[in-house]
Amino acid sequence: MGRLEGKVAVITGAASGIGAATAARFAEEGASIAGLDIAKPADDAWALVCDKAPDAIFSEADIRDEDAVKGAIEGFVQRFGRIDALVNAAGVVGFGAAHLTEVAEFERVMDINVKGSFLTSKHVLPTMLEQGSGSIIHLASVEGLEGISGQMSYNASKGAVVLMTKNMALDYSPSGIRVNCLCPGGVATPMTAMLNVDGLKAIGDKLRGAHLLGRFAEPEEIAAAALFLASDDASFVTGTSLVVDGGYTAGHRITLE
Ligand SMILES: NC(=O)c1ccc[n+]([C@@H]2O[C@H](COP(=O)([O-])OP(=O)(O)OC[C@H]3O[C@@H](n4cnc5c(N)ncnc54)[C@H](O)[C@@H]3O)[C@@H](O)[C@H]2O)c1
Repeated sequence: MGRLEGKVAVITGAASGIGAATAARFAEEGASIAGLDIAKPADDAWALVCDKAPDAIFSEADIRDEDAVKGAIEGFVQRFGRIDALVNAAGVVGFGAAHLTEVAEFERVMDINVKGSFLTSKHVLPTMLEQGSGSIIHLASVEGLEGISGQMSYNASKGAVVLMTKNMALDYSPSGIRVNCLCPGGVATPMTAMLNVDGLKAIGDKLRGAHLLGRFAEPEEIAAAALFLASDDASFVTGTSLVVDGGYTAGHRITLE
């Protein structure tokens, strides 16, 4: 029996990277899947999900648009009757030091990474409150816990997600709803693929080397942590920022060579 047998999971960002890997893993573990993304998933990736979860549905929506989010989630509830887990994996990266960042770019990153996760939570919560149960998993980042040069908007957005997690854990624990976030280090997804092109490869290698394990995570390794938080194995876990970073935040390795 799968670890999410009989459960319904809403997964944003389900068309790519961590969200797609989470949809596939949750389906494998017996969950019904409701995917949401601004983009369509690749046919073969979604076919993998549907193979394990034949009742899977997908809704194209922009998580910045409250009406679109509300409509998509109403559709999921109509179809499945309940929502046991919400994984907020839709997100974007943003670059630039403060004095070089356009207001529109700052707002884009904050709107998608912070407001988007707030809006999906807002419209999933009434169903979870009615049930008296649920698990919400936000995607923060190690960059919500510490700074990295040249990514001011992204740092600000992920720091906000870490505190939004704690706030929601406080507000909803009396109702049986657990709220946690994941703080991955670098993950090999389309978001980091730019580091594989000429000119940025050296930065990519440096960043990989800053992880004690010497590499980025595969998206499936983050999906495994999301599975833990969504499952009953995490029944006593709420308000936490679960770091899954291959040792990126462990400290500094200082040696003679
Ligand atoms: N890749 C990494 O190194 C890494 C590390 C730490 C945290 N994260 C976080 O994990 C999450 C997933 O990242 P990923 O690497 O899978 O990225 P990705 O680019 O592979 O996937 C992100 C998905 O979000 C969707 N999306 C973007 N804007 C949207 C919007 N307005 N409405 C709906 N969907 C939207 C995209 O279409 C895409 O399918 C993000 O929040 C990211 O910040 C990623």
